Amino acid sequence: MLSPQIRSTFLDFFTARGHRLVPSGSLLPPDPSLLVSNAGMNQFKPWFLGDVEPDFPRATSVQKCVRTVDIDNIGHTRRHSTFFEMLGNFSFGDYFRTEAIGYAYELLTGYFDLSPDRLWITVYEDDDESARVWRSVGVPPERIQRLGAADNFWSMGVPGPCGPCSDVAYDRGPAYGRDGGPSVDSERFVELWSLVFMRSLRGETEPGGGFPVLGDLPRTGIDTGLGLDRLATVLQGVDSAVQTDLLRPTPATVEELAGRDYSPADRDDPCRVSFEVLTDHARAIAFLLADGIRPGKEGTEYVLRRLIRRAIRHGRRLGIEGPVLPPVTASVVANLGPAWPELTRAASLIEDLTTREEESFDRTLRRGTRLLDRAIRRRLEGGHRDLPAETVLTLYDSHGFPPDLTIEAAHEAGLTVDDPHVRSLLSPHHHP
Ligand code: ALA
Repeated sequence: MLSPQIRSTFLDFFTARGHRLVPSGSLLPPDPSLLVSNAGMNQFKPWFLGDVEPDFPRATSVQKCVRTVDIDNIGHTRRHSTFFEMLGNFSFGDYFRTEAIGYAYELLTGYFDLSPDRLWITVYEDDDESARVWRSVGVPPERIQRLGAADNFWSMGVPGPCGPCSDVAYDRGPAYGRDGGPSVDSERFVELWSLVFMRSLRGETEPGGGFPVLGDLPRTGIDTGLGLDRLATVLQGVDSAVQTDLLRPTPATVEELAGRDYSPADRDDPCRVSFEVLTDHARAIAFLLADGIRPGKEGTEYVLRRLIRRAIRHGRRLGIEGPVLPPVTASVVANLGPAWPELTRAASLIEDLTTREEESFDRTLRRGTRLLDRAIRRRLEGGHRDLPAETVLTLYDSHGFPPDLTIEAAHEAGLTVDDPHVRSLLSPHHHP
């Protein structure tokens, strides 16, 4: 099933069950505590909090999301993307856990025709009720696993609504990893859909990374997110999102520019990683630009600039000497423009802005790469296993070379970098 049909199957299922179809919010989030929209529920946050009365009790949407927390995983796992479309259904004080689980199971098995034998469920450690409901729809107890807060308690990452979640994973088979369910191997048992049972309010992140739960929400709610990239990967029987109809033409464009083939099956090939990072980032860049975000030094603008620089670096690694971002983002626009008209409207702007950013970054990148390659070679020849934080800083201070690119290159060469030390030296006066 191709992505247009996946989107419409999802939305039709929920609109037929009383959900209001709501367009995606912008990637520039309505909530100033976020740098970029990261979930379907973002635009409904005031309704979940009870600050504002909901206009309707149920909603469904396909939300554009960007998450950079997993940026280092792009190209290394088969399941991470920086930009992705999140299919969601929402209840604001209306239905709760039983209906949400029933809908998810019915849609996955009855409409997307996923084999029930391949579905695994995780629930929050003390959530007996969800485990019971999953059993009642037909999931055998041995395929229901309990996980702690790190996996099965969801929040936006900032103060706001939160709650335990129950996730549906799909078993991709032994070729993808170890047996034992999602608690053992999340690459083989890939999480498709997360159902969040919103019921609490979270506070600010604490020093250790945790957060306090401040109390109950005025009413419970449902917030779900089904990753279109992952579902398309499974339904189209391909290895990763790059090979689905959502992205497929883009690696082909990169192949032409680079004059070499993309070999998705060669997991150890650094060129494969560069193909995938470039493809992934080009999609995020095109969507961020189309939503009016511009590259810059801080906040949301820096999220975009960082993606642009990483993408250009991976283009150069593939040996593409001429402009890389303009043609690669153009292929994203051509492919996804029919589903997302804002891309088509912004096509020439995307071309201009990516051209400009690439021209201005190119000299820095070329000089920095030369110096960095030399520094890495010296460390390796000297038998060292790390790149000193000071090297990262010098490259940045004297040559403007972004620290995250230095760190990425060091990791690729098998050298560690003391990231906290780099960060402590960087802040607060430095901002790449
Ligand atoms: N808000 C939940 C998530 O993003 C569904 O995973």
